[in-house]
Amino acid sequence: MKKDKIKDSKLLLLQLKELINDEKDVIAQLANASSLLKMFYHDAINWVGFYRLVDNGDLILGPFQGKIACVRLKKGIGVCQKAVIDQKTTIIDDVHQFSGHIACDAESNSEIVIPMIVDDNVVWVLDIDSPNYAQFDHIDSEFLTEFCQILKDIL
Ligand code: SME
Repeated sequence: MKKDKIKDSKLLLLQLKELINDEKDVIAQLANASSLLKMFYHDAINWVGFYRLVDNGDLILGPFQGKIACVRLKKGIGVCQKAVIDQKTTIIDDVHQFSGHIACDAESNSEIVIPMIVDDNVVWVLDIDSPNYAQFDHIDSEFLTEFCQILKDIL
């Protein structure tokens, strides 16, 4: 199972590279990237999308797949902002145990957030929610970090 997951994720990275091709439009690329991740994780996730860090430290909703989400995540509050502060991938096995978690979709039980860092600054984050507890592990973390690394060229 783990072996399959690694193999499939490597294929997805190739697909992402193909998909990006020469197009530099950020919104278009992140829109397709969120769709690609939704197709990959399918029912294992209920929300996937990007938030953009703005000057006052808030995060603003970007391209996503899933239910309507919070448009603005205030500086310092929630899982996405924790990933911004720590500048590290954040995995929460049970969001109900995380103080300050912002519940955009009541179905979410676990979450992973990957900060996208350019020149030492977070510019966007990738946020994925799952209805399953403890959905995300180090394999997801490594794969999604590579996924974001590919996207960084167009940010
Ligand atoms: N749960 C996130 C908010 C974004 S939604 O999950 C789409 C957080 O606590 O930052």
